[in-house]
Amino acid sequence: GRGDDFTVSCSGFDHRGVDPAVFASVMVRKDFRPVLNYSVPTQVNISFTLSAILDVDEQLQLLTSFLWLDMVWDNFFISWNPEECGGIQRISMTTQNLWLPDIFIIESIEVDQTPTGLSAYVSNEGRIQYKKPMKVTTICNLDIFRFPFDRQNCTLTFSSFLYTVDDMLLGMEKELWEIVDTSRNLIKTQGEWELLAINKATPKLAVGSSLYDQIMFHVAIRRRPGLYVINLLLPSGFLIAIDALSFLLPAESGHRAPFKMTLLLGYTVFLLMMNDLLPASGVPLISVYFALCLTLMVVSLLESILITSLLHVVSTQPRPMPHWLHSFVLRSSRVTECCNQRPQEESEGRGPKPIRLPHLKDPEPMAGWEPSPGKTEPKGDPQSDQRIQEPQVAGSWVKFSLALDTFLCWLYLLFMSSSLITVIVLWNA
Ligand SMILES: *[C@@H]1O[C@H](CO)[C@@H](O)[C@H](O)[C@H]1NC(C)=O
Ligand SMILES: *[C@@H]1O[C@H](CO)[C@@H](O)[C@H](O)[C@H]1NC(C)=O
Ligand SMILES: *[C@@H]1O[C@H](CO)[C@@H](O)[C@H](O)[C@H]1NC(C)=O
Repeated sequence: GRGDDFTVSCSGFDHRGVDPAVFASVMVRKDFRPVLNYSVPTQVNISFTLSAILDVDEQLQLLTSFLWLDMVWDNFFISWNPEECGGIQRISMTTQNLWLPDIFIIESIEVDQTPTGLSAYVSNEGRIQYKKPMKVTTICNLDIFRFPFDRQNCTLTFSSFLYTVDDMLLGMEKELWEIVDTSRNLIKTQGEWELLAINKATPKLAVGSSLYDQIMFHVAIRRRPGLYVINLLLPSGFLIAIDALSFLLPAESGHRAPFKMTLLLGYTVFLLMMNDLLPASGVPLISVYFALCLTLMVVSLLESILITSLLHVVSTQPRPMPHWLHSFVLRSSRVTECCNQRPQEESEGRGPKPIRLPHLKDPEPMAGWEPSPGKTEPKGDPQSDQRIQEPQVAGSWVKFSLALDTFLCWLYLLFMSSSLITVIVLWNA
């Protein structure tokens, strides 16, 4: 039945313009699907160009993008012979006068806001080519765990709102790589998001007894992390490095705790200022990292306070040292000394080396301190015993405090490096 019935008379297209009357038969049928045999589904081939990624809302889990949708289908009510019409093979026509496929994006949460008054190309064979701009806000399952090194995979599913597979079939107008290439060229602007790839899947959608054709595009995008690395990770890394290095400040000077307090204050201010840059919902790894840095700073401040107060207590009012602790300090100091000072042993002679503590009030008694575990055992009159041994006990207490400080510092460094490595590995995974 095609051909004669619906051949538009095109005489005069080339020198008098289109006579609207010849398209009247098309226009009056625009409310109906343009096929001659209703058993034949309309094939609509689609493609799109992603021209901008406007917003990724982690809190509402929304992706707002801008795309140009391209649709091609055949309207069997239109055809003409270009040879009779000065070789005119296609004309444009406003879309109000044409039947349009009702393609929509399933994930979209907004009604289509296509501008009115768009035109479409109509070829002499009745092939309609229609492009429309769309600003789509789609639901996307955003995983911000690896923020700011995250990749998102958002799906745009094109389907017909009404027509089942009996009436409409979808196909691809362009190859996938063409879509990716043109989109990449268009999104070359240095926005926050970079287009990585687009994959396609074409499962049919079954709703009740009806089967709908659909094309799914998985759009993979990646965040450019530069802004966040410079504004969040670097300052935080510097502060934690300073915090670790502040263990080099002598514990007995008393400057370490105020210094760490200042650092902690600075870090809190930094977190307050940079809070806007973080995703508003979920627990990304970077929040864990910040919490970890803060915890490390607090722990190291507590450690400094502990050591400072311990040093203060033992240098003013030393208590007798428990026997096991005393022998432990002795053994560990012997071990470190024998390891560290073996070359000097001959020249300096045997015996424990005097500890030099410039800030301590009375370092002299420690010089002559002879290790003897039995001496610390409080026996007989504890008062007199304690008084005799006070300088020696103070010396070993100081030794113990400094050893504890070194040990806790190493523990801190070990914990810091292992947790930072864990975080970095998780980021790269
Ligand atoms: C309509 O199309 C169906 C399926 O292609 C075919 O079986 C049938 O003969 C066609 N009807 C006419 C009138 O051409
Ligand atoms: C749609 O694409 C298919 C295969 O790619 C092709 O056979 C068909 O002619 C196209 N239809 C239209 C209307 O472009
Ligand atoms: C995106 O997710 C879909 C499944 O939801 C998967 O088939 C596809 O391969 C993913 N794409 C990328 C680039 O990871």
